[in-house]
Amino acid sequence: MVLPEIKEKIGALKAERKAVILAHNYQTEEIQELADYTGDSFDLSRIAAEVDAEVIVFCGVHFMAESAAILAPGKLVLLPEAAAGCPMADMVTPEALRRYKEQYPGAAVVVYINSSAAVKAESDICATSANAAAVINSLEAGRVIFAPDRNLAHFVSRHTAKEIIPWPGYCITHHRITPGDIARARRVHPGALVIVHPECRPEVAEMADAVLGTSGMIRFVKETDAAEIIVGTEAGLIHRLRKERPDLKYYVPTPGLICPNMKYTTPDKVLSALEKMQHRVAVTPEIRERAAEALRRMLAVPSS
Ligand code: 13P
Ligand code: SF4
Repeated sequence: MVLPEIKEKIGALKAERKAVILAHNYQTEEIQELADYTGDSFDLSRIAAEVDAEVIVFCGVHFMAESAAILAPGKLVLLPEAAAGCPMADMVTPEALRRYKEQYPGAAVVVYINSSAAVKAESDICATSANAAAVINSLEAGRVIFAPDRNLAHFVSRHTAKEIIPWPGYCITHHRITPGDIARARRVHPGALVIVHPECRPEVAEMADAVLGTSGMIRFVKETDAAEIIVGTEAGLIHRLRKERPDLKYYVPTPGLICPNMKYTTPDKVLSALEKMQHRVAVTPEIRERAAEALRRMLAVPSS
């Protein structure tokens, strides 16, 4: 629980600075409780662009705060913990992606939102776990480079007739879930349904009842008739799921499904961010313009 003094100070500073707090679904319970909005990468980038505020305190990882800075150039974006990054986003650089593009002339380039602004600037359009198939199917090209998540690339290749050329990146947290973990969890909880994130290995995704991004998982539990769910994603989401459906039982397929970067943000750091107006996330105008175009194209794709 967030200490009442900290909560009060944060509330007062938020009003003074005209700030809002956005938190990704993997943040700790305390941060989710402090936030004005919680959501997946897609929801949060849309909220950042639309929300009426002068300052956005982004409780998530660096690429998410950068997306907010790209889409909301008039707002000041703060990342409470400067070191909160995404190892998968770091698996692709703009230089390496440019070389890849030269190998596949004519292919469209779709970049997962889990990437730096400089990598987004090299793409035709961005995608998130919630809309990757719709984004790819909206393109004219028959061949598509998809970077940096090879597992999401594999998942979308099952939902499109286009040829998908994957980049070999992956999420170290989701990659920990093995088919053996899912088989064991099903044996222990025979009545439970299995939902997994598309960043999981293809062999794991094939064993699931549904493959969904975090917002899709929230919708799934709201609507399900099942009483027990095995949740194949970062454990922070379970707090969010419990809020939506406290009557269900949730299990993890393997212990320690934690993204350390998502847990760096604490209420104290949120308070320091607002007191010291730190750590400012900015993007150079040239990169911002090209990355913004890729993000805006994504936001214009109707969700399927
Ligand atoms: P979502 O967009 O599904 O919330 O996922 C973001 C992420 O970082 C998954 O690891
Ligand atoms: Fe990156 Fe994986 Fe953490 Fe998501 S869970 S922020 S993809 S390392």
